Amino acid sequence: MRPIIAPSLLASDFANLQSEVEMLNNSQADWLHIDIMDGRFVPNISFGFPVMEAVKRFSKKPMDVHLMIVEPEKYIEQFREAGADYISVHVEACTHLHRTLQQIKATGAKAGIAVNPHTSARLLEDVITDADLVCIMSVNPGFGGQKFIDNTYRKIEGIKDLIIQRNSQALIEVDGGVNLQNAPLLLEKGADALVAGSFVFSSANPTQTIANLKSAK
Ligand code: DX5
Ligand code: ZN
Repeated sequence: MRPIIAPSLLASDFANLQSEVEMLNNSQADWLHIDIMDGRFVPNISFGFPVMEAVKRFSKKPMDVHLMIVEPEKYIEQFREAGADYISVHVEACTHLHRTLQQIKATGAKAGIAVNPHTSARLLEDVITDADLVCIMSVNPGFGGQKFIDNTYRKIEGIKDLIIQRNSQALIEVDGGVNLQNAPLLLEKGADALVAGSFVFSSANPTQTIANLKSAK
């Protein structure tokens, strides 16, 4: 099966957001990955509701919102209203992860769990059947353009085993440092969705780069 490609808006040109979103509309991108950073869960601040709502006005693609924030449960409904189709919260930021996943689903959005590079796949054992998506971080969250962490391959295998064992429907997404070099092995190990920021937006022809990722195997 061809992978889901989710370009990350973080690497786009914010001064030309409308044309960036239109480029994505006319590309083979499946989702639009939206990185929300609060300067507390991660050492960086990205953007929030007003920018998301502006993007939503032009975007024809589902919004895959990755919350790198503490206490995400305070803002779930607001992210849904701002246009989120998928909402992923970090396992490391949720004391009551099971409850937060139900809260996301109650809004009508799909519920995702994001996991930092140091977090063991085993921690998801008791919530994997409640998730629609597992976002495996292949860099430490907070910044675009970082180097891919090789342990991700093993991590995908662990999560994939868990999904099969528990008969979960969750999709596996890989986020950080994804490019055409590592994409084939990520897909072979079981990734369903690939997030790519700088690899897409720093390339000479982002539309073509998205098509190349879509055909990676
Ligand atoms: C990292 C973000 C990623 C990032 C990916 O904190 O969650 O989604 O935008 O960017 P690249 O592909 O440049 O690593
Ligand atoms: Zn992300």
